[in-house]
Amino acid sequence: MNRRRRVYEGKAKILYEGPEPGTLVQHFKDDATAFNNKKHDKIEGKGVLNNRISEYLFQKLGEIGVPTHFIKRLNMREQLIREVEIIPLEVVIRNVAAGSLSTRLGVDEGTMLPRSIVEFYYKSDELNDPLVTEEHITAFGWATPPELETVMSLALRINDFLSGLFLGVGIRLVDFKCEFGRLWEGEQMRIVLADEISPDCCRLWDIETQDKLDKDRFRRDMGGLVEAYQEVARRLGLHVDNPTRTRSGPVLVQSK
Ligand code: C5P
Repeated sequence: MNRRRRVYEGKAKILYEGPEPGTLVQHFKDDATAFNNKKHDKIEGKGVLNNRISEYLFQKLGEIGVPTHFIKRLNMREQLIREVEIIPLEVVIRNVAAGSLSTRLGVDEGTMLPRSIVEFYYKSDELNDPLVTEEHITAFGWATPPELETVMSLALRINDFLSGLFLGVGIRLVDFKCEFGRLWEGEQMRIVLADEISPDCCRLWDIETQDKLDKDRFRRDMGGLVEAYQEVARRLGLHVDNPTRTRSGPVLVQSK
């Protein structure tokens, strides 16, 4: 039984109305999807691990001054977040060639890029999230030029910080996807990091073995996804006991 109002349901997450105006509860499901939902499965424990890892990364980013939607984790599958107006872009930052960049441009997977590359994809399931340029974004009004400049500089800052953080635990941050939103505070608007950052939306390779510790294990039918995410959590010093155990039901969210 879940009495809370569902605001939005995506492939891997559900957003519920939060306890106070301007807040939402972000619930991490166990669903794994790839290739725009053509491949779909349930992987028990994935939601719990992503909730914990994303909480940790958003907290750390907050500590260095990156504004985010994150308020606090509520339980094993849910976190309290600020409601933002999502900018309809998937912002991908790449350090090493892999995935669609390798396929599109014929660059061998694993090739170090001469510098970090930022790409934008328009969020649209019907169109398969097409790659777009700054010209499309500003011409169609998905973001203004100053907003896009903020998004770019935040994305690069997040990349620098997370690359170092993962390097410290023997993991190469190959690439990742992030999303941004507009947070309204009265008349003032700030661009903040939204959604999640977890092994679902990053490529994470073990520096020593080159093992993949991310969702490519699911996309490429390699198996061992939960074990890989658990390894990421373990290296980050997060204790996620038995992530497959819990299924959280309705949650009492206490206001401050
Ligand atoms: O598939 P591609 O190489 O473009 O993915 C780049 C990065 O963005 C990968 O880390 C992938 O996990 C992430 N991504 C994502 N959601 C998408 C597309 C890509 O999280 N819809």
